[in-house]
Order: sequence, then C-alpha cells, then structure tokens
Amino acid sequence: MTTDTTAQGTAPDATAPGTTVLDARGVTMRFGGLTAVRGVDLTVGSGEIVGLIGPNGAGKTTFFNCLTGLYVPTEGEVRYKGAVLPPKSFKVTAAGIARTFQNIRLFANMTVLENVLVGRHTRTKEGFWSAVLRGPGFHKAEAASRTRAMELLDFVGLADKADHLARNLPYGEQRKLEIARALASEPGLLLLDEPTAGMNPQETRATEELVFAIRDMGIAILVIEHDMRFIFNLCDRVAVLVQGEKLIEGDSATVQGDERVIAAYLGEPFEGDPGAEEAAEVAQAEAHAAGTRAETATTKDTGTATDTATDTATGSTGATGDDATPGKENHR
Ligand SMILES: Nc1ncnc2c1ncn2[C@@H]1O[C@H](COP(=O)(O)OP(=O)(O)OP(=O)(O)O)[C@@H](O)[C@H]1O
Ligand SMILES: [Mg+2]
Repeated sequence: MTTDTTAQGTAPDATAPGTTVLDARGVTMRFGGLTAVRGVDLTVGSGEIVGLIGPNGAGKTTFFNCLTGLYVPTEGEVRYKGAVLPPKSFKVTAAGIARTFQNIRLFANMTVLENVLVGRHTRTKEGFWSAVLRGPGFHKAEAASRTRAMELLDFVGLADKADHLARNLPYGEQRKLEIARALASEPGLLLLDEPTAGMNPQETRATEELVFAIRDMGIAILVIEHDMRFIFNLCDRVAVLVQGEKLIEGDSATVQGDERVIAAYLGEPFEGDPGAEEAAEVAQAEAHAAGTRAETATTKDTGTATDTATDTATGSTGATGDDATPGKENHR
C-alpha cells in the first residue's frame, strides 16, 4: 500500500482545499434519561483527517450515528458542504458521506465484489425498469460499476479475493472491504469507526497508509479509534469526547499533553469534568461507608449481623461508584 494515488485519480466528490466539508453544531442525543452526546460542535475541512477519541461509552459512535442519519439528533444541526443533511441514512450517503461500522456490517453471504457493488447503489442512475428490462443502458452501467468496484478492491488490496465470500475473509480484510464499500459511493467525507479494531500491528500500519491515500484522493476523513499511536500519527486535529461532551480539540501534541485527557482515560476526576460532581458524591458516600465498615470491624467480636449488613451496603455503594466514575469502561 502506498500513498501514490495517481492511478485512483481524484474522488468525484472531492472538495476545493480550505472549505468546510462537515459542520456539526450543538449536536445532542438523548436516550430517555441518558444524554449520550451533549452540545458537540465539530468541523472537518477538505483535505483534513480529524480524529475523535474518548473512553468507552463516551458517545463517539452515537455522534457518528447522528451525522449519518441513523439517529435524528435531539438538538443541533449537521451540515455537509453548507447544506443541512436530511435525517435519512441513504440520503446522507447520496449527499456524499460514507461510513464504516464499529461492528462490521457486511453482507456475509455475498462475494467481496458484490459487497462493493452494493455500495455503488447510490451512484447508479439506472432505475427499476432498466433493471427489469436489462437493456443496453443497464449493461453499460453494470459494467462501469464492476470496473470501479474492482479498482477500489485493488486500491484496498483485495482484488485477488473478489470472488470470495465476505464471511470467509479474515477480520482485518473485512474491515478493508468495508472501506472499499464505503468508497464505492464516491464520498466527499468518510467516517471510520474503529478501523483498526482487531488488527495486528502490520495491518494497522497498512490501514494508516490506506487512510492517507484516501485523504490524498480529496476525501475528508473523520476517524474514531482507541489506538492512540494510530490517531496521533494520522490526524491533523483530534477532538476528545468524555461523557458525551467535547473536552478538548487540537493538534496531536496539544491533545497528547493535556492532563485532562490522560485523567479521563485513567478514570480520574479532573477540574471541570462533566461528571465531577457526581463522582465527588460517590467518593463521599464511599468514604462514609468505609468509615462505617472500619467502625464495625472494631466491634466485630460482638456484632456479626451488623458486619454483614455493612458489607452489603459497602458493596452496593462501590458498584454505583464504578458506574459513575468518569472515563470508566462502559460494559454494555
Ligand atoms: N440506541 C441507544 N439506546 C440507548 N442508549 C444508547 C444507545 N446507543 C448508545 N447508547 C448509550 O450511549 C452511550 C454512548 O455510547 P456509544 O456507543 O456512542 O459510545 P462510544 O464512545 O462509541 O464507546 P466505545 O468506545 O465503547 O465504542 C452509552 O452509554 C450507550 O450505552
Ligand atoms: Mg463506539
């Protein structure tokens, strides 16, 4: 994989340098009582690779879902190249945004090539009757789609597996196939949700090169990833989400050096932390319970019933504390 994209040319939906491709403002997503994303602003400019990081459960995928019409945000607005996006996935794809999924969503029993052809769907003009009658227009369009799909498979390094069933590909190659399928819709913006999850270091390195090559085709990129080396090597700008809110945004050096980011990943509360108040209450309750426990321990010989009751109370406080600690892993 190289970053030489001359053979691929420029993406049809490529944007002039210096323009804003994605402009998300005040995006909020609530699920009942849970606010998964709160007032997030984020832009991606043409030629940019922007990273979105944050601990598990921070709201990164939910934010992607809001950008791509999978969710209609409770509040806020998403614009692509200046136009407000329609709240429907296929319309968002048609507008020029493509994505891959954290949990791979391929058509397992279709071939690798067929999966990419599905991705061409929004770019083929042939309608229902053309498909039924299978006239010369249909055959020409189908041949053009196949040629483009094979080009894309070649680009991601899967051309020799075009006839394999998607489900038989190793995990890393399934992720590459998802990227090829996303590119088949000729996007101007590509959203990647954990593109290197489950990959070995060599595959991760190759994916890094692939993402640079996609950027060089004129496609702007927003990428979620937990692999920090990958993110900081790749991105022009990185935004950090913590408990649904944007904590900080800046270049790799700025974000890497920010102690709040480190604290968020380690699960330690920090000044101004969205969940700090809640965490402080929990810490207080824990301290109180520990005090009670210590007291009980000193009288252990005389009161086993009290001891058991205090153990239970401490246990339940501890569990609440785990859940409410900012940046703690979210076991869904
Ligand atoms: N459809 C939904 N209904 C209810 N809650 C949801 C829904 N989707 C996401 N959530 C909740 O929103 C929060 C954010 O989840 P999300 O998947 O966006 O996090 P994430 O940052 O992508 O995490 P990870 O790094 O683990 O992928 C979580 O608490 C999750 O349980
Ligand atoms: Mg996610």
